[in-house]
Amino acid sequence: MATPHAPAGHERIETSNFLMIVLILLTVAVGGIVEIVPLYFQRSTTQAVPGLKPYDALQLAGRDVYIREGCYNCHSQMIRPLRAETLRYGHYSTAGEFVYDHPFQWGSKRTGPDLHRVGGKYSDEWHRIHLLNPRDLVPESNMPAYPWLATNNLVPADMAPKFRALRTLGVPYSDDEIAKAGEAVKGKTELDALIAYLQVMGTAVK
Ligand code: HEC
Repeated sequence: MATPHAPAGHERIETSNFLMIVLILLTVAVGGIVEIVPLYFQRSTTQAVPGLKPYDALQLAGRDVYIREGCYNCHSQMIRPLRAETLRYGHYSTAGEFVYDHPFQWGSKRTGPDLHRVGGKYSDEWHRIHLLNPRDLVPESNMPAYPWLATNNLVPADMAPKFRALRTLGVPYSDDEIAKAGEAVKGKTELDALIAYLQVMGTAVK
């Protein structure tokens, strides 16, 4: 029979719940910090790509409609750097394209196609018909219809506070742009806004 011995070295850790838990937490914490902290300081993740502009008032209102209607439940905005993806959707998504998005809409659920490069792919009229009833253009589509967007008017007074809130998060809106934000959406519908948003999506990178 082997002589009993007090556990030493790694065996001591493996036979103690307390040590095991504390050391696992420490390892995961250090590993996490090492991966995440540099992202806050790298140019490629914190600087806008050349040509990226903050959303104008109509596009921003459209983005809010997109979030409210839950379009992200079926559409991602994140083209991965894989050949099959770039052949289908275009240039893969880069972090610098999303620095003005608070919160970003990357997602991972793809009941429908990725939308990151949908800007400019179709005419405004195509989107208008598609959003009012997708089946009019794509008979096999299971995307819901959003007819109320055409009759809901935007509220101009909502826009300046939205711009100001985004400015506190680092989006470079000028006082002048904030002052004119409401004017820019006067008489526009939620449908106009959503289409403006879809048409600018992913257009900073060709
Ligand atoms: C239940 C899932 C679902 C939801 C929710 C949904 N979609 Fe879709 N979407 C689809 C599917 C499936 C397709 C592909 C068939 C088609 O074109 O209708 C699609 C296609 C699209 C296309 C055409 C993309 C392309 O490259 O051809 C656009 C644009 C689009 N959706 C926008 C939206 C917007 C904006 C919303 C929110 C108002 C939305 N979708 C909500 C499922 C969804």
